[in-house]
Amino acid sequence: MLMNRIALFRDLLAQTREGYSLPQAFYTSSEVFSADIDRIVSRKWLVAGHVSQVAGKGDYFLFKVAGEQILVVRENADSVRAFYNVCRHRGSAVCTAESGNARVLVCPYHAWSFNLDGSLLSARLMPEDFDKAANGLHPCHVRLFHGFIFVNLSEDEPDDFDATFGELDPILDYHGFAGAKVAHVGRYPTAANWKLVVENFLECYHCTPAHPEFCSMHPTEALLAVGGGPSSGPQEAVEKYAPVLAAWEQQAEALGRPIYSIDDGPESTHLRAMIQRTIREGFLTETQDGQPASSLMGKRTDWDLGRMHVSFSPFSHVVADSDFAMLFRFTPRGAMQTDVDVTWLVDGAAVDYDVEKMTWAWHTTTLQDQKITEDNQAGILSSRYQPGRFSTQERALVTFQQWYLRHHDHA
Ligand code: FES
Ligand SMILES: [Fe+2]
Repeated sequence: MLMNRIALFRDLLAQTREGYSLPQAFYTSSEVFSADIDRIVSRKWLVAGHVSQVAGKGDYFLFKVAGEQILVVRENADSVRAFYNVCRHRGSAVCTAESGNARVLVCPYHAWSFNLDGSLLSARLMPEDFDKAANGLHPCHVRLFHGFIFVNLSEDEPDDFDATFGELDPILDYHGFAGAKVAHVGRYPTAANWKLVVENFLECYHCTPAHPEFCSMHPTEALLAVGGGPSSGPQEAVEKYAPVLAAWEQQAEALGRPIYSIDDGPESTHLRAMIQRTIREGFLTETQDGQPASSLMGKRTDWDLGRMHVSFSPFSHVVADSDFAMLFRFTPRGAMQTDVDVTWLVDGAAVDYDVEKMTWAWHTTTLQDQKITEDNQAGILSSRYQPGRFSTQERALVTFQQWYLRHHDHA
């Protein structure tokens, strides 16, 4: 099996050309998918949700990734835990609802019960030599960071969290994500390989033909230069946009916004990115008419006419306007199945927020992305599919592919 995998990747890597989409098997094969899970997905810090989704003791939700179910549960005011949702008796799923509240976690099969810290509380009629202490739920690495719940499925020591994400402290603090709350969750399951979902999110070459609503809220020059990330557009476009961006940065900084950016390369562990930029002139936020959908988030005192996009990894992104934010979760579920979930966040103190107004742009856009990505997958399944050349507006895809392929270099 291992030899087969090594041979498969040797063959596929030899067919891969920089500046082109990947060979077919990368988007279709279950063997490649298994290797992606082993080498990438199960070793990265993934955002499972927001802390306001487990506000009360015993609140829980399930995060399903690849073949695993991770149970995220509030143990007490200070602690959120994550476990594999697998009973230590004969392996049943313990929690079967997508989310809920429980004082103790009771397995529905033979009623073994577990405390919120994962330890086994009771198991009836077990032999005398049964070791209760050795039969707690298997823990999963978990970290809370500015309100975001990160999990890591690694069996080994995962990448150092603070060394990976500490640089994002000032900007996440400014946006007030730790005190934010969920306004709406949208689910857009997409019948496509996870790399097609990510590639679609990392380029704005498709924005003009596919997303008229999204484009209506943005200056064309910004979409062309940095619409898919800090260095996604043609070099000349990035240079042309630079003075516009610098002028905005000066104004935004005067209002207290931390100004910096992050643009990880292929050698990085998580391919992080952070870009702050202008939205369309006259628009306060990314809504249909540019008018607010909620009150200012975090430490803001005024509208600064900008937006932020942070990528924690290719799997987890946050886009934030002055009054609301979206958490994007791209979760591989099968070789050609990816969960796309968008969670809209508002300030914890917001009262009169307009869900329909704030979801208009990205609900519409994500439905469009679901369709074009599924169409992309359908075409790639053809015998006539061949890797195609990237445009100058798809530079971020080269970086993403180099990052991706590096994980399989010794597969
Ligand atoms: S499998 Fe859970 S109690 Fe038997
Ligand atoms: Fe898109």
